Amino acid sequence: MITTEQLQQSNAVMEERIPVWILYGTTTGNSEQLAKDTAEELLKRGVEARLSDMEDFQVKELPLIEKLLIIVSTDGEGEPPLMATDFLEYLQSEEAPDLSNLSYSILALGDTTYFDFCKAGKDFDSVLEKLGAKRLFDRVDCDVDFEENYKKWMGALLKTEVS
Ligand SMILES: Cc1cc2nc3c(=O)[nH]c(=O)nc-3n(C[C@H](O)[C@H](O)[C@H](O)COP(=O)(O)O)c2cc1C
Repeated sequence: MITTEQLQQSNAVMEERIPVWILYGTTTGNSEQLAKDTAEELLKRGVEARLSDMEDFQVKELPLIEKLLIIVSTDGEGEPPLMATDFLEYLQSEEAPDLSNLSYSILALGDTTYFDFCKAGKDFDSVLEKLGAKRLFDRVDCDVDFEENYKKWMGALLKTEVS
């Protein structure tokens, strides 16, 4: 027969906190590439981050994450990439959980020639803040030449406790 102690132990394992998760939303692959680069950089520093696209991400994991890194582009006229739509809508819905134990940072990809520059990244930023999550540091918005700002974002990330 299973004891209360054993049950508590198995629950503790199931609810183990996840230190760093990198989530990306992309249409043409830039955000995916940067997400992979980020995972690699962290791994070099001994941090094993989980990496997934927003479509495959199971929202039940959300309350278990300590640090969430979001890399997301904007598509259409200020819309999130298709793969990011459900996740953003979930966060904006009444079902969204309290995220006051979560820290996050956002790298937003876009193009300054569009009226709604980096809107998807801005939408994720504002909804996470509304749900109680804390910024590790300010969101970084990138124009089509994103390398320079990606480096800035990565630099800021590496200055936090994440590494
Ligand atoms: C059809 C289309 C619509 C876009 N709409 C926007 C937009 O509304 N706002 C913006 O900032 N960037 C917009 N962009 C620019 C992309 O966000 C940018 O090229 C980004 O680097 C793409 O990243 P991804 O490959 O991760 O999707 C658009 C690009 C395309 C091709």
